[in-house]
Amino acid sequence: MTELQIDRRNMLGAATLLAAGAAAASAAAQTPAAPAVSAFAPQPIAKPFDPAAVPGLSANLLNSHFDNNYTSAVTRLRAIETQIAGLDPATAPNFTLNGLKREELIAWNSMILHELYFNSLGAPTRPGAALARQIEKDFGSDARWRAQFSAMGKALGGGSGWVILNWSHRDKRLVNQWAADHTMTLAGGTPVLVLDMYEHAYAIDFGSRAAAYVDAYMAAIKWTAADAAFAKASA
Ligand SMILES: [Fe+2]
Repeated sequence: MTELQIDRRNMLGAATLLAAGAAAASAAAQTPAAPAVSAFAPQPIAKPFDPAAVPGLSANLLNSHFDNNYTSAVTRLRAIETQIAGLDPATAPNFTLNGLKREELIAWNSMILHELYFNSLGAPTRPGAALARQIEKDFGSDARWRAQFSAMGKALGGGSGWVILNWSHRDKRLVNQWAADHTMTLAGGTPVLVLDMYEHAYAIDFGSRAAAYVDAYMAAIKWTAADAAFAKASA
């Protein structure tokens, strides 16, 4: 073996060691410890709320909706987050990752939309001055907004979904948005007021009379939370 060959072999060995060290360092940098799972918890804003103060919707209905649907969405979201945190995305089957991320979106939006919904129920009020002005600007009048919003809810009767008064940050305007399920929200929008059109929101009191439920909801809107959401979104 020549001197040149020995030097070349040593250089290759050193290069291999350096490459292995760099790869190990890179792997360590790319696989940090999994972050702690967010501790999602039901918001205390709606429960205990006073179902007796909500005209047209019974305490039995509201409590069942809160306990069986809203709370379970939060519990489900916690469980989903735990599973995602324990998953190795490099080796997990696509259907496992897809399924968990789909369910995460469903549960997360269900939590958010239900919080908006329950926060909008109470002793009825009128929209605050700023939100009332925006509604008049974007819909022509409060009556025209109400007519469209409630008609959209009634149109979802027999199916399910949400009607969402949504603030578009892009276009600086309000829109009544249709949603067939929890996953549909206007991109770049902030929900301000929502109407739950899943049967669990009304069947106990109204059976299949979805339109009667919509009328009851429209008469029971407490706008305080919507005013706050609009002020924050449009600031
Ligand atoms: Fe619901």
